[in-house]
Amino acid sequence: MIKGDSGDYNLLAKWVGEMNPKEFYLTLEIGVREGYGSYVIMDTLKKLNRDHFHIGVDPYGDITYQHVDPREGMVPRWTDFDGNVLYNEDGSFKTPTYPNSMKQTFLSAFKHHENFMLCQLDDYEFFNSFGHGVPVYRKGQKVFMTTYDFVHFDGPHTTKAVLSEALFFAVRSNPGTRFVFDDVDTYDFKLIQDALSYYDFYLIGSGEQKKCLEKASGYKKQ
Ligand SMILES: C[S@@+](CC[C@H](N)C(=O)[O-])C[C@H]1O[C@@H](n2cnc3c(N)ncnc32)[C@H](O)[C@@H]1O
Repeated sequence: MIKGDSGDYNLLAKWVGEMNPKEFYLTLEIGVREGYGSYVIMDTLKKLNRDHFHIGVDPYGDITYQHVDPREGMVPRWTDFDGNVLYNEDGSFKTPTYPNSMKQTFLSAFKHHENFMLCQLDDYEFFNSFGHGVPVYRKGQKVFMTTYDFVHFDGPHTTKAVLSEALFFAVRSNPGTRFVFDDVDTYDFKLIQDALSYYDFYLIGSGEQKKCLEKASGYKKQ
């Protein structure tokens, strides 16, 4: 059984399930890990009989990267699921990485989700490769998709990374598109929310770790 590494997955399901009715939804998650976020998104749509295709973007490969914004006086210490601090063999503090073997755990858990494409790329390479749109092959057709209906931002949790991801998808969205951000206390979420207000995205829900914004449908929400 795959595990998530955060909370508010019940809210993630609710925010997916309560999207405006459409014939087809293109959804995407940045930062897949073992796949629990992607699983919740796809399972919710499948149970509601909503036609969909989901894209996962994750480089795996034990890449080292900046996980959160550096804060004065705060040194991040990485722990296992039980809260034990993790160390390297030489005794130094461990920075978590995500190996290619994790991708295999994810793929075997996803064998029943056929409406899915894993892009083993980081966000930057995905944007370079698919900025002009992404081809989706289904029902005997190739459809070139240029907008997304739902995006879960759960890769690097720095303000710089999340802001550039959010702006990429903001101009590739429709009225009613929802963005869910995880671990919102680890970066300047207010700055991202303010920037997205210029694209008519407004806060529609908050949990302990996640927040959901929706692009206004035809009228400006307050
Ligand atoms: C917090 S975990 C994702 C958790 C997952 N969404 C869940 O709900 O269980 C972060 C993931 O982001 C991936 N990642 C790291 N840098 C990335 C980048 N630049 N672009 C996309 N994904 C990245 C890591 O490989 C890791 O699998």
